[in-house]
Amino acid sequence: MTKRFDLSGKVALVAGASRGIGEAIAHGLAEHGATVICSSRKQADCEKVSEAIRGKGGKAVSAELHLGELDHHDKVLAMIEKEFGRLDILINNGATSPHFGPAQDASASAFDKTIEVNTRGPYFLTTKAFKMLKANGGGAVVNVASIDGIQPAEFRVIYGMSKAALIAMTKGLAKEYSKQGVRVNALLPGFTDTKLASALKENPTAQQHIDMNLAIKRMAQPEEMVGAVLYMVSDEASYFTGQGMVVDGGAVI
Ligand SMILES: NC(=O)c1ccc[n+]([C@@H]2O[C@H](COP(=O)([O-])OP(=O)(O)OC[C@H]3O[C@@H](n4cnc5c(N)ncnc54)[C@H](OP(=O)(O)O)[C@@H]3O)[C@@H](O)[C@H]2O)c1
Repeated sequence: MTKRFDLSGKVALVAGASRGIGEAIAHGLAEHGATVICSSRKQADCEKVSEAIRGKGGKAVSAELHLGELDHHDKVLAMIEKEFGRLDILINNGATSPHFGPAQDASASAFDKTIEVNTRGPYFLTTKAFKMLKANGGGAVVNVASIDGIQPAEFRVIYGMSKAALIAMTKGLAKEYSKQGVRVNALLPGFTDTKLASALKENPTAQQHIDMNLAIKRMAQPEEMVGAVLYMVSDEASYFTGQGMVVDGGAVI
């Protein structure tokens, strides 16, 4: 009998797998049978994640991949082609948000860095990976965006812009790629307990924000993002493309 959400035999690249939501997604994909390439700027941290996956009987390796460095994209994709001969799943999870504060105080370099990592990186990684993703049919891309992409917040306007662009990219590529066997979707997390959200978590008004704006009165844990991703990359979602799944405790209703 076919097991639902089974990813056995599939190869998955997670960009930004060293911690937080990406680490949780890497574990989830491996638990469902995928071979996972855990990547980020810090290969040693990714190797710890891969080791933990292998320790549970899963299949994982690590790679250095800075989303802003296009030659890293080429190197990692070439390694995957050589070592595994296929790529079925791409998770564009890595992101940055160097500017937090009034919009007029943001530097051009903070603006460029945000777009480089959060938008330009996923675009080129996906377009470069497309050939492999379509080769065996059933390819799937998940872009980890944010509810900021549909409901921007003050003090992190550039980050919201980068995620809105990622959502537009998801829809555009879905139109272009789905007819060629590669579905493209997005995950839109809300307030999740990770390093990226630590400044927000430590803000004295964090609990007030949660109480006023969320239907579920707490932050998410990274593991609570995994189920939505497993759905989007599995054959259960064979008719699902160009969409975003909002997992935000009811912040955007
Ligand atoms: N936490 C939240 O509240 C929240 C809400 C909405 C959306 N999100 C989204 O969820 C995703 C994961 O974030 P997180 O909350 O799990 O944050 P996190 O714990 O800080 O993890 C960020 C990940 O991105 C990687 N990364 C950062 N810069 C990179 C680069 N230039 N190239 C490649 N990888 C890079 C980091 O690895 P290295 O440092 O090793 O490179 C790390 O693995 C992001 O797309 C974020 O925008 C988070």
